[in-house]
Amino acid sequence: MALPAFAHDAIGKDGLDSAERASRDQILSLQRERLAWSLRHAYENVPFYKAKFDAAGVHPSDFRELSDLSKFPFTVKTDLRDNYPFGMFAVPREKIARIHGSSGTTGKPIVVGYTQADLDMWADVMARSLRAAGVRPGMMVHVAYGYGLFTGGLGAHYGVERLGCTVIPMSGGMTERQVQLLEDFRPDAIMVTPSYMLAILDGFTKAGLDPAQSSLKFGVFGAEPWTNAMRQEIERAFALDATDIYGLSEVIGPGVAQECVETKDGLHIWEDHFLPEVIDPITGEVLPDGEKGELVFTSLTKEAFPIIRYRTRDLTRLLPGTARPGMRRMEKVTGRSDDMIILRGVNVFPTQIEEILMAVEDCSGHYQIELTRTGRMDEMTVHAEIREGRWSEASVEGSSRRILKRIKDTIGVSTRIEMHPPGAIERTATGKAKRVVDKRPKE
Ligand code: DLL
Repeated sequence: MALPAFAHDAIGKDGLDSAERASRDQILSLQRERLAWSLRHAYENVPFYKAKFDAAGVHPSDFRELSDLSKFPFTVKTDLRDNYPFGMFAVPREKIARIHGSSGTTGKPIVVGYTQADLDMWADVMARSLRAAGVRPGMMVHVAYGYGLFTGGLGAHYGVERLGCTVIPMSGGMTERQVQLLEDFRPDAIMVTPSYMLAILDGFTKAGLDPAQSSLKFGVFGAEPWTNAMRQEIERAFALDATDIYGLSEVIGPGVAQECVETKDGLHIWEDHFLPEVIDPITGEVLPDGEKGELVFTSLTKEAFPIIRYRTRDLTRLLPGTARPGMRRMEKVTGRSDDMIILRGVNVFPTQIEEILMAVEDCSGHYQIELTRTGRMDEMTVHAEIREGRWSEASVEGSSRRILKRIKDTIGVSTRIEMHPPGAIERTATGKAKRVVDKRPKE
């Protein structure tokens, strides 16, 4: 069965493609058509989906309206692990043009595959994301997301090329060299995790360079949760426009949703290819737009690795479109359900701590949260860092006091704090920061 056509077509004078210009009704009818194809494609070509749909007593022919999607079962990370490595592929291995994977801290990685058509669609949505971020054809883009099995580097790379820009395939790590090339090549834009952007910022300071004088005008940051406070810090330091990019390997990689530079009000989901739902993480019930819960995605056009109702564990809510009225936005992801710390009954997300630290002048954005247990009591220690050039007894004392008070006042828990000199907290070479170190004994 062929996929319904909807052109990835030429960009109009308004700088938008036809899907970005489409009305909400047009997007909904496109989704209905494409979802019917995707459900059938998954059912007919992936034994896992056939078994799962059969067990739930649903068939792709039961799908008529978008609301019928809720009758179909969810897919979770362990389903992908159970079918390692290639069991979720819907096309013969020879049709797979590329493989990516997520490292996974324990056990087997998640493996995903792409046909040539999938890679093309991915480059299209990435190019669209870059345009939304302010990048234009002819600009030069420094890609510091890691290259390799991680989808960040190559995903960004082909989007930059598709848009008609010059790509610098830098990958992650070697911070001094990153700074040197940023100075020498003078790119217009950078794509990197926000936490690694802070490491690059330190690199500028160490080299005696003023980041505000750098050539960078746009930054496209994602792959981990980050706050608006962190955005302001980066924008101010480099005098650039920072936008948020979201994605996950299981759905395609970066380029599932992107913030528009003109509004910076959450991320538009590219709904012509990825259908979002938000569910109650406990009951699995679909929540109305505007309510916060767990984000779930269904692919509408992917050939090699169709994904049906995938539970991302990311927490957010859906909002109406603004800069692209046909497509809904998702609020900045504040955290994953896995990252939520329950400290003596209070829910705490690392991003809440980040917001508090960023509001304290002498604090840099580098931090880590350590969890320990004394007897039956859980303890949380926030490891924070003093900014370059601000280290003094008074600043350590003043900052500690303010941070502890704010955590107590706004989150409602008592924590410990340890202030460290500039550069003391571990930097990640390839990007995603490790925010929580859990040293509590396993139950
Ligand atoms: O991180 C894809 C990516 C690369 C996105 C580069 C953006 C930029 P995974 O390694 O599979 O894929 O990790 C996906 O990272 O479920 C979220 O928990 C988190 N994540 C990704 N983007 C954001 C973001 C890539 N903008 C997981 N804000 C997702 C918050 C994000 N969390």
